[in-house]
Amino acid sequence: MAENRTATLTIDGKEYALPILSPTEGPDCIDIRKLYGQADVFTYDPGFTSTAACDSTITFIDGDKGILTHRGYPIEQLAERSHYLEVCYLLLYGELPSAAELEKFETTVTRHTMIHEQMHNFFRGFRRDAHPMATMVGVVGAMSAFYHDSLDINDPRQREIAAYRLIAKMPTIAAMAYKYSIGQPFVYPRNDLDYAANFLHMCFAVPAEPYDVNPVLARAMDRIFTLHADHEQNASTSTVRLASSSGANPFACIAAGIACLWGPAHGGANQATLEMLRQIGTPENIPDFIAKVKDKSSNVRLMGFGHRVYKNFDPRAKVMKQTADEVLELLGVHDNPLLQVAQELERIALQDDYFIQRKLYPNVDFYSGIILEAMGFPTAMFTPIFALARTVGWISQWKEQLADPQLKIGRPRQLYLGESLRDYIEIENR
Ligand code: CMC
Repeated sequence: MAENRTATLTIDGKEYALPILSPTEGPDCIDIRKLYGQADVFTYDPGFTSTAACDSTITFIDGDKGILTHRGYPIEQLAERSHYLEVCYLLLYGELPSAAELEKFETTVTRHTMIHEQMHNFFRGFRRDAHPMATMVGVVGAMSAFYHDSLDINDPRQREIAAYRLIAKMPTIAAMAYKYSIGQPFVYPRNDLDYAANFLHMCFAVPAEPYDVNPVLARAMDRIFTLHADHEQNASTSTVRLASSSGANPFACIAAGIACLWGPAHGGANQATLEMLRQIGTPENIPDFIAKVKDKSSNVRLMGFGHRVYKNFDPRAKVMKQTADEVLELLGVHDNPLLQVAQELERIALQDDYFIQRKLYPNVDFYSGIILEAMGFPTAMFTPIFALARTVGWISQWKEQLADPQLKIGRPRQLYLGESLRDYIEIENR
């Protein structure tokens, strides 16, 4: 971060020199930290469209070129040649592990997969028809009531244990939320299975008969986890960072991230996309649907399309589409009607001026629901799967933030447009 260049801001004829920070990749950042003290002005940027809220060494996105890297490695290579737990290690520690480091990491994660037995009662307090995301927000927040020995954020060892616990237990919690919603008994984790295969086992096994995990589906599940592992300062990650900046415990911070992810503009888009594809039903209905999307008064959006950062193809969407083809082929589904609608919708949208002018392309959520549905997941489970996969990203960013000696509580300012000072009026005089 070289600071030898400055930008000059002139306010009412007075000049202020603002340092320019140079990143390894991406646009320069104008450092405005001292601006308020010097010039008595705030900067105004609702939605943070031009604001870098932190520095980070974890993930980089070039939205114009459609590039996503973790610790410098392109997502395509990680999805193709690595696997989820190795990517977790990379995100958490900054480098790819040696064989011994990976084995130790995988063993430690595997040994933390069970949840405190008393938490089962906590699940049972929810209505059976609760959305699994509602259950996850509650249960992950409640981890702070069960794991008192990993709440001290100032103790690096406790931070480490909290990270392991969250990464290891999130699939168990998501699978239990699912089992509870369909009235089936909870299935305990199996530590002889890998991370993705164990998740499929906990979701689809029943005590009454054996369940063999299909290795191709387990690989596809692992790839979906990898594609969702981190995405720099998105809304849920920024929520985790903001929550953590006050010193809140890790479980509370991740629960906050899950709550933010749930919205349809963010992680909830995978569920919303599949519901949209179902609603469209057949390719003949696409032109009417597109007309509605373009009619601003309709408030209808093409879900799974568009992104704040990508103004090109989301590289995750390309891998996801390829994975959808592989899974449907394996399952012998050659004429999936939803896939046909999705492909035609993508074809039409990419040729339409509305989408071209606004640089709207398919994002990670456009094809993920088709794969997850083909694997047997109900739509309500799509966002919990996103949440469990993103947990490592949240935790890595949380760890990075807490290690920063300059950490300050996040406290944005505002452009106040309300009433100026006025006197209270007694009720009888109003
Ligand atoms: N369908 C129709 N129009 C859209 C869409 C869409 N999906 N996305 C953006 N636009 C239009 C928007 O109406 C606006 O048009 P105009 O300039 O005429 O007012 C323009 O494109 C810019 O949109 P914006 O809302 O200012 O862009 P944003 O960066 O604030 O929003 C977004 C990004 C992801 C919230 C948005 O593209 C969207 O709502 N997409 C659908 C939901 C979705 O798929 N979300 C998943 C994102 S990827 C996974 C994740 O991050 O969780």
